[in-house]
Amino acid sequence: MTTPRLRHRRGRLGAAVSGLAVTALTVALAVPAAAAGSTLQAAAGESGRYFGTAIAANRLSDSTYSTIANREFNMITAENEMKMDATEPNQNQFSYGNADRIVNWARSNGKQVRGHALAWHSQQPGWMQNMSGTSLRNAMLNHVTQVATYYRGKIHSWDVVNEAFADGSSGGRRDSNLQRTGNDWIEAAFRAARAADPNAKLCYNDYNTDNWSHAKTQGVYNMVRDFKSRGVPIDCVGFQAHFNSGNPVPSNYDVTLRNFAALGVDVQITELDIEGSGSSQAQQYQGVVQACLSVARCTGITVWGVRDSDSWRASGTPLLFDGSGNKKAAYTSVLNQLNAGGTTTPTQNPTTPNPTPTTPPPTGGGSCTATYSEGQKWNDRFNGTVTIRANTNISGWQSTVTVRSPQRIIATWSGSPSWDSSGNVMTMRPSGSGALSAGQTTSFGFTVQHGGNWAWPSVTCSAS
Ligand code: XIL
Repeated sequence: MTTPRLRHRRGRLGAAVSGLAVTALTVALAVPAAAAGSTLQAAAGESGRYFGTAIAANRLSDSTYSTIANREFNMITAENEMKMDATEPNQNQFSYGNADRIVNWARSNGKQVRGHALAWHSQQPGWMQNMSGTSLRNAMLNHVTQVATYYRGKIHSWDVVNEAFADGSSGGRRDSNLQRTGNDWIEAAFRAARAADPNAKLCYNDYNTDNWSHAKTQGVYNMVRDFKSRGVPIDCVGFQAHFNSGNPVPSNYDVTLRNFAALGVDVQITELDIEGSGSSQAQQYQGVVQACLSVARCTGITVWGVRDSDSWRASGTPLLFDGSGNKKAAYTSVLNQLNAGGTTTPTQNPTTPNPTPTTPPPTGGGSCTATYSEGQKWNDRFNGTVTIRANTNISGWQSTVTVRSPQRIIATWSGSPSWDSSGNVMTMRPSGSGALSAGQTTSFGFTVQHGGNWAWPSVTCSAS
């Protein structure tokens, strides 16, 4: 069972406005809008989800690009830099320079990383394309082991196997050199990945699997069901979600996501782009977000690039920012839909009551005070809010939030975070001006992945 987000909000408001006339209710309903996330990561974070993008290492030096990426997204996928041809250009010679550039940028900015992809028929290095049989199987498993070991502990989710099913009506596997090594190549790859990085979520990722009635969707579904029943280690299914007029967002998308989730895996939208423009594009984006928010185990959405001009399908203008970095109508519809919330919050575990954390006292910091208050809780994470109160007129503030191992902050909103090298101490600064007059308050929020430790973070404030 999950907590309906809308009901939760109405519950809070209901208490606040009880006894007021209906006209006053309209005014009161505007209150949460003021607290709504103003970026994609903030708005998604309110329901415990992430919002990500693909990043190309050679664009990080473009400040328009990196500014938008840093502000809006908290989950990063390397667009090409972690693929087999990039990471093992010669057999047994691994090359991580460009991948590391992206991973380091993401982590130093407090973001998580989706690994993409360990085994795939496409973008193989030349030496692998010419291999077959046992030597190819062993080379593939060695690649999975080496790369997943190198990035162990740094990856939220790995696309262990990408695009292994055929298009069309067969519902079967795609022919490839890897497939010809034996039908069990996929499960062998998953087992190798689990052994190399036991804490990363392991995903199967594919395209044209969005429509529940398509044979390819059913083929992947049957494989995941089989894996779960036989204990093959799989944690998630990625839906690439590359849409255009010939392949529109299906009206049964939520059904597909819900049915996969019911197998006991998370589902993620991993490479979203929708060709088009204006309100029709905006509506289709809204539909995808709505479908994800309606499924408890749909834990996040990643778009496949920042600006239209960065897209692999640039001529189809499929992304949320135009070539100049302006927000498109599609951006606004995604943000609004994220802020409207869904009918579910992710991965609730109703059978395990959440222990009540100990309450830390508010911490004074000269002329401002930081107070922590708890937000929503899930089985693996919780949200918190820090309220900053100015004790005197101040022109700026900064606040530290210290979490306790193995806790990690995985999302933030309404502030500009930076991190110490341990990753345990986040320093939050105001996104805009931090000026507050005496008695005024402002707040920021974050999500903590608690790893079993429910202690509240300690918070401080210092003012300038
Ligand atoms: C694409 C990249 O965006 C391009 O830059 C590259 O030339 C080809 O690959 N499915 C996937 C992604 O899983 O890795 C692909 O990315 C897009 C389709």
